[in-house]
Amino acid sequence: MSKDTTSINTNSGIDLTGVRCNSNKVYFEMDVLPILRQNCAISGCHGAGTYEEGVNMENYQKIISTGKVKAGNPGESELYEVITTSKQNDVMPPPSMAKLTTAQIATISKWIQQGAKNETCNPNYGLPAACSTEGVTYSGVVKKIIDKQCIGCHKSTNISGGVRLDNYDYLLASVNKGDFLASIQWAQGYVKMPYNGSKLDTCSINKIKKWIDEGAKNN
Ligand code: HEC
Repeated sequence: MSKDTTSINTNSGIDLTGVRCNSNKVYFEMDVLPILRQNCAISGCHGAGTYEEGVNMENYQKIISTGKVKAGNPGESELYEVITTSKQNDVMPPPSMAKLTTAQIATISKWIQQGAKNETCNPNYGLPAACSTEGVTYSGVVKKIIDKQCIGCHKSTNISGGVRLDNYDYLLASVNKGDFLASIQWAQGYVKMPYNGSKLDTCSINKIKKWIDEGAKNN
């Protein structure tokens, strides 16, 4: 995977973290591991310190090696054989425990057929990102919001209310005066900004507030 798995595209507010999920694919971490954790990697069986027959179902590496998983071939994979065999002595989980459901067995089979890979995807890919206020800078975040939402009425050719926001120094003056944050928070006693517009989204306000809390630096 060559994709950047950490960044969120904050400009568009869209979560582009990781990889979009493919509905035809089975993903180890989300689909397979929970089944094995719940039914196999339990104390007294194949996890939490007890590894019957040396089989450990706790993580990918162990599952592949001790479960003798043959990528692409469920029929030759021990893990698949023991969950599907009709032999009462060999079947897993043991007859005293709940059986895996048909759907769970199908998931494991499909995962092995697809190569038994350790792949993951982001179910929220392409959806609006949860707001992150980490690493908010003037140039990267605050200026962009202002340029889009405020500048038209607060620049040299249109200095509404005597307020200019078209460069860092003007902005800082307004920040220090206290009316900048108050106006976008729609605080009492201040004119609500954007003027006659709708309130900025909470995420943008939180980002701006964080930037101010951290010293309103020209970064
Ligand atoms: C459509 C034009 C327009 C837009 C867009 C706009 N403003 Fe204003 N702004 C005004 C006007 C007009 C005033 C003066 C209002 C008054 O005094 O009644 C003003 C006043 C202000 C003040 C002084 C407020 C006070 O209570 O003294 C601040 C601070 C301010 N604007 C910030 C902003 C910010 C930040 C944005 C963007 C989020 C923004 N404005 C967007 C027109 C606009």
